[in-house]
Amino acid sequence: MIKKGNLYYPTKEFKKQAWANSPSVYKEANKNPKRFWADLAGELVWFKKWKKVFEHNPPYFKWFVGGKINITYNIFERNLEQRKNKVALIWEPEPLEERPRILTYYQLYKEVNKFANVLKKLGVKKGDRVGIYLPMIPEVIIAMLACARIGAIHSVVFSAFSPQALKVRLQDTEAKILITADGYWRRGKVIPLKNNADKGIKDTKVRKVVVVRRIGNKIDFKKGRDFWWHELMENQPEYCRPAVMDAEDTLFILYTSGSTGKPKGCVHVCGGYTVQALWTGKLIFDWKDTDIFWSTSDMGWVTGHTYSCYSPLLNGVTFVIFEGAPDWPSADRWAQIIDKYGVTVFYTAPTAIRMFAKYGREILKGHKFETLRLLGSVGEPIDEAAWQWYFREIGKKRCPIVDTWWQTETGGILITSLPGIGPFRPAYTGIPFPGTRFEIFDEKGKPTKAGQEGALVLLPPFVPSLLRGVYKNPKKYLSTYWSEYGKKVYFTSDAAVKDKNGLIRIVGRLDDVIKIAGHRLTTGELEAAINLCPSISECAVVGVPDKIKGEVPVVFVVLKKKIPDLKKTVVAQVLKEIGPIALPKEVYQVEDLPKTRSGKIMRRILRRLFTGEKLGDLSTLANPESVKKIKKIVKKMK
Ligand code: WT7
Repeated sequence: MIKKGNLYYPTKEFKKQAWANSPSVYKEANKNPKRFWADLAGELVWFKKWKKVFEHNPPYFKWFVGGKINITYNIFERNLEQRKNKVALIWEPEPLEERPRILTYYQLYKEVNKFANVLKKLGVKKGDRVGIYLPMIPEVIIAMLACARIGAIHSVVFSAFSPQALKVRLQDTEAKILITADGYWRRGKVIPLKNNADKGIKDTKVRKVVVVRRIGNKIDFKKGRDFWWHELMENQPEYCRPAVMDAEDTLFILYTSGSTGKPKGCVHVCGGYTVQALWTGKLIFDWKDTDIFWSTSDMGWVTGHTYSCYSPLLNGVTFVIFEGAPDWPSADRWAQIIDKYGVTVFYTAPTAIRMFAKYGREILKGHKFETLRLLGSVGEPIDEAAWQWYFREIGKKRCPIVDTWWQTETGGILITSLPGIGPFRPAYTGIPFPGTRFEIFDEKGKPTKAGQEGALVLLPPFVPSLLRGVYKNPKKYLSTYWSEYGKKVYFTSDAAVKDKNGLIRIVGRLDDVIKIAGHRLTTGELEAAINLCPSISECAVVGVPDKIKGEVPVVFVVLKKKIPDLKKTVVAQVLKEIGPIALPKEVYQVEDLPKTRSGKIMRRILRRLFTGEKLGDLSTLANPESVKKIKKIVKKMK
């Protein structure tokens, strides 16, 4: 890249070959966003063309009204003629001695069709919800696409989520069928996934369970309820007719943290999501037929859905998925994978970048990263030090870095500088995708000036892939996204600031979401889990800065009854209710939590007590004396 002041630009060579290389794409798109998106949608195969591009009935809106489509038809039938025997996906298992699995577009097509027929045989119909609780193995993609083929709605649950977290999600979707595996490898150990699934489906409507044999570990198998994937797939026809879906029919539901203990089911639809998935991948990762793409996200997150499944497949790209942890069995496993497959575009989270950097230069020896041409970052703000390390040590100062901002709710990347245009600035995510109108508002809803922090909002016509609702909870949809600045403004819950070039820096969340290693959780969700301990009377969770993970939770508890090993108990409770991603860093027992006179816990003060920042005004507290006592406890334990 070429440096000018504090900005970076792509080289002439990169520019020349890039899909988007002139700022005129912004000018054109922003003149008429609806027409821009309609032009992009025209690249897909529609069974029936839409009658109207955009319809707004605040807070509801529709895209491509009346259009009929199927995403799998656009992945397969639209691509097969040119790419029948091209590799679609490469699966790298965790154990080094195990062979990778490689599926071409045609092979994947047949597997998807066969499994679509299996689902039909099991009684799954258009509109039914299907739970998917699978590790990163090819079957997770086959299962998702098979649902999409027949118009069933998939809801993927992260395989490291606890049985309890699975249950809550299955109860909300009322899925009657769950697809899971016997187990999977994680850091050299077998995770008994089927056991977890057995616990998770209790008190739900799940009556059939399809089990992939990944490991061959011993599992309980209930006749009549449990079915082996490989047995069901025997003798299935290799073609299943794609369901004709309305553009606004639901494609999938994906849960994300809500402000209370209950997660929100983000609803994504068939038409708009397909358009966004096709084009964001193409223009942001600048995919060509020769690229090998690797996004390290698990399928349980939206990054997995869009950039480890739908977007590369719609674009006919070859991509890698990996079962294990990036630093197992050695710290450079991720670098070995880049070398092994000649990855050209690599997409990961700042947490992973900081972890690699911490392992030191040693692990980079022998890895030249010559095949890489473009890097991406996602999930949390990337600090300047991590950006520079990524740029220098991995990208060798050659590769542009696309820092991509988006959310589970947006379905696709919405802010990032395009790699063939730039400019890039460390710690700034970039500029909105063409045709996408963002503003940074002050409290009154007026646009702020450059350099002035405010709330990041998205203005009509929004984007085709924005969520259409919170599953079965219209109130939550309205109050979370369409209340802060009225029903016509989508509130992202992020604070942001623009520089004079229009580049946006994400400052952080304005709500109680914390980002632990890029994973989204709310303090409320953790508190609800911990409060289930009978000996705990109340608790408060705050996110505190962490060098590697970005943020980690710290817990303050008030006890009803003494607990012998408090930290162990709280940790066990979090593991049981949520899973290992939410592990608290510290647990403090306190007499009282600082509260306002109206009884609200002042988490901000607790966080500052931990970080040692100035506490600020305590006069609004009902119990200012609690603060001194907590300060002592924190000091003693640190
Ligand atoms: C929140 C959404 C996007 C897929 C994975 C996360 C934060 C996301 C960035 C970025 C700074 C970022 C925001 C956002 N975030 N990307 N590039 N720079 N912050 O999806 O779990 O729904 O979380 O992640 O705070 O609101 P998610």
